[in-house]
Amino acid sequence: MKTILVTGGAGYIGSHICVELLQAGYAVVGVGHLCKARPEALNRLQLITGKPLLFHEQDVRDRKALTGVFSRQAITAVIHCAGLKAAAESITFPERYFDNNVGGASVLCEVMVEQGVKTLVFSSSACVYGRVGNEPIAEGAPTRPVQPYGETKLAVEQYLRELCAGDSQWNAISLRYFNPAGAHPSGLLGEDPAGVPGNLAPLITQVAIGGRGHLEVWGNDWPTADGTGVRDYIHVVDLALGHVQALAKLTENPGELIINLGAGRPYSVLEVHAAFEKATGRKIPYRISPRRAGDIAVSFADPALAKRLLGWEAVRDIDDMARDAWRWQQLNPNGYGAVDSPPPRVRLRSN
Ligand code: UD1
Repeated sequence: MKTILVTGGAGYIGSHICVELLQAGYAVVGVGHLCKARPEALNRLQLITGKPLLFHEQDVRDRKALTGVFSRQAITAVIHCAGLKAAAESITFPERYFDNNVGGASVLCEVMVEQGVKTLVFSSSACVYGRVGNEPIAEGAPTRPVQPYGETKLAVEQYLRELCAGDSQWNAISLRYFNPAGAHPSGLLGEDPAGVPGNLAPLITQVAIGGRGHLEVWGNDWPTADGTGVRDYIHVVDLALGHVQALAKLTENPGELIINLGAGRPYSVLEVHAAFEKATGRKIPYRISPRRAGDIAVSFADPALAKRLLGWEAVRDIDDMARDAWRWQQLNPNGYGAVDSPPPRVRLRSN
C-alpha cells in the first residue's frame, strides 16, 4: 500500500484530502503544528472513513522531527498543504508568511531529497495570477500576485520547477486552487476558521446561523453584471479529489506541472448569497460596503488542463457547496469546539 504524507492534514483542505486518500486505498500520515487547525478534525476524518491515520504534531520547519517522520515509515509521496493562508494578514506580517510558507517548503524538500522521496503535490493558489483582466485564466497567464501570500506560493512553485529541472527523479505538481468552499457531505468535516473568517462562504453561514448580524458585500460597483465580485468557487471535496488524481499523474514521471483547480463557473457575491438563502431557507441580511483593499473584480479558471492531464473536473456546483456548508454549520455551530459524542481517538505523536 502506498503511504502519503499530508502536511497540514488537520486543516480545512488537508483534512478533506486525507479522507479522499484513505477512501482511495492509500495509507496516510499527517504532520502539522495545529496552530490554526483543530485536532478534532483528525478524529472526524477517521470516523468518516473507518480507517486509521497516524498524525505527527510538529512544525514542518522542524528538520530533525520531520526527518524522524520519514525514517519511521516508508513515505511514497508528499502532499504539502501546511502554511499560512490569510492574504490580508500577509500584508501586515510578510516575514511570517515567507518563513512558514517558503521556509516550510524548503525544509520539507531538503528532507525529502535526503530521504530519497521526490514526488510532491503542492497546494498553490490562483492568487499567484493577481489581476489578469482576461478570464478564464489558463496556466500560461502572467503571474503578478498582489500580496505577500501570493508571492510565497509563487516562490515555492519556482523552487519546485528548479528541483525538477535539475533532477529527473523529481516530480512535482503545483495545484492552483481557485475559491474552495463547502464541506464534507457527512457534516463532520468543514471550515472552522479561527476568529473572524476572511472568506465569503463561512461568513455567510455564520450570518445565517445568527452568529453575525449581516454580511458585508464589498462593493457593488465592480465591472461585473450585478456589480459584485465574481469568483470561481470549487467544492472542497472536488478539490480533494483533484489531489488524488494528481498523485496518479505523478506515477507517469511528468516532471514539473502547474495545474488550475477551479470549476470554471463564475458566480458573483450576490449569486452566492442567493444560493445560500436557497440552501438554508433563511433570509440572510446583507449590506453593501466599500470595496475591500487589494480586491479584484473577477477571477475564474480555465480548467481544461486539469481535465486533459488529470482526467479531473469539478462536478459539484454552488448549490452543493451551500447545502454542505450549511449542514456543517448547523451540526457544528461552534466548529470543532462542540463535540456531542466522543469520536474514536486518533493516535497523536509529538516528537
Ligand atoms: C481571498 C484572497 C486570496 C486567497 C483566497 C483563499 C484576498 C484579496 N484574496 O480570495 O489571496 O487565495 O481568499 O480562499 O484576500 N466578499 C464580500 N464580503 C465578505 C467576504 C468576501 O463581499 O465578507 C467578496 C469578495 O470581495 C470577493 C468574494 O466575496 O469578491 C470572495 O472573497 P474571498 O472569499 O475573500 O476570496 P478571494 O477574494 O477570491
